Amino acid sequence: MINVAILGYGVVGSGVAEVLDKNSERIARNAGREIILKRILDVRDFPGSPYESLFIKDFDLIANDPEIQVVVETIGGTDVAFEFTSRCLEAGKSVVTSNKELVAARGHELLRLAGLKGVNYLFEASVGGGIPIIRPVAQCMAANKINEIYGIINGTTNYILTEMGTKGAEFSAALSDAQKKGYAEADPATDIKGLDACRKLCILSSLAFGRHIYPEQVPTEGIENVTADDMRFAASLGCKIKLLGRVRDVGGKAAAYVAPHLVGKDNLLANVDGVMNGIVVRGNAVGDVMFYGAGAGKMPTASAVAADVVDAVKHIHLRKLLSWEEGGEDAATDPSLLESSWYIRTDVTGEKATREFGEVIFADWADGGQTAFKTAVMNEKKVRELIGRGVPALSLFRVLGDY
Ligand code: HSE
Repeated sequence: MINVAILGYGVVGSGVAEVLDKNSERIARNAGREIILKRILDVRDFPGSPYESLFIKDFDLIANDPEIQVVVETIGGTDVAFEFTSRCLEAGKSVVTSNKELVAARGHELLRLAGLKGVNYLFEASVGGGIPIIRPVAQCMAANKINEIYGIINGTTNYILTEMGTKGAEFSAALSDAQKKGYAEADPATDIKGLDACRKLCILSSLAFGRHIYPEQVPTEGIENVTADDMRFAASLGCKIKLLGRVRDVGGKAAAYVAPHLVGKDNLLANVDGVMNGIVVRGNAVGDVMFYGAGAGKMPTASAVAADVVDAVKHIHLRKLLSWEEGGEDAATDPSLLESSWYIRTDVTGEKATREFGEVIFADWADGGQTAFKTAVMNEKKVRELIGRGVPALSLFRVLGDY
């Protein structure tokens, strides 16, 4: 029997308690022993909760309890979560988390501390919600050099784009729906502005490239500037608009960014809709592998956290080799040098656009004096130079795959 505790009884934390309870028999069989939820830490009260007797407000009761060997951190953020995680690791407890903000900011430090203490710091749920992605990249693809990772790694923005694109929903209505369904972050600007995707991309990049890639090293654009006009133009070009995180190996360094892309309708990612996430990992031996599933939400995310609890229990006296080296300026390189075709929406004439850009592919839907087109393959510096010649871009997005 092993005792565990949960720090933070929010959407994910409450889901973890529920999964541990609901699937207790199967979990015990897979872990090789019974897992008992002993304490739940939260500043709030939950009268009438089935776990009412487990709630405490004093973290020391967990930190100083030698019977609690595995701790679930679902507080979120980097302040209290970092302090509590470090103290648990220091005390020789394994920690399991869905907190992508903390892993992206300080994963290297926490993994090193876990290593020193001979315990585990596991974060399968930090990327892709319920999709297995951390373990497959770290273990199943361990014999590959990873050349590229790209995909849809934020459920909220994918839900909003899908609702707008397929049902003509208003941005604010789609966002409020995503909040009600438990997909969005406490501050949904984190989703909309691409920060959440940026953090997840940092984690995947660190894992794939072996050095910590920090959010500041990843240029990030969200979906604030995607309009209904862009969606119609994209459709007439045979594409959908998706917010993608992408990292590519450039001379051994990570060139990573987050931005909206046009994705051709025949690409599998174009059909990853709603809250679903889809991630493609390109290994030099296996080729492309794609991961698909629910990218956010209480139970999918709790499923991944609880699986890490099982793994931590199975490896209670063993250290899993999951880590990366310290980061630094030389770990990342400028992604604006990556070449692609570009989508441009503009209010100048097609003749003017053709004069500056040469042969382009125009969208055939036109409205209010606007037009949109796809350029030849070029890097960001070049496309901005051409735009500067009098073809102002009302929107400028990369086109996936055209490079
Ligand atoms: N807000 C996140 C998303 C939750 O929408 O993807 C899952 O990490």
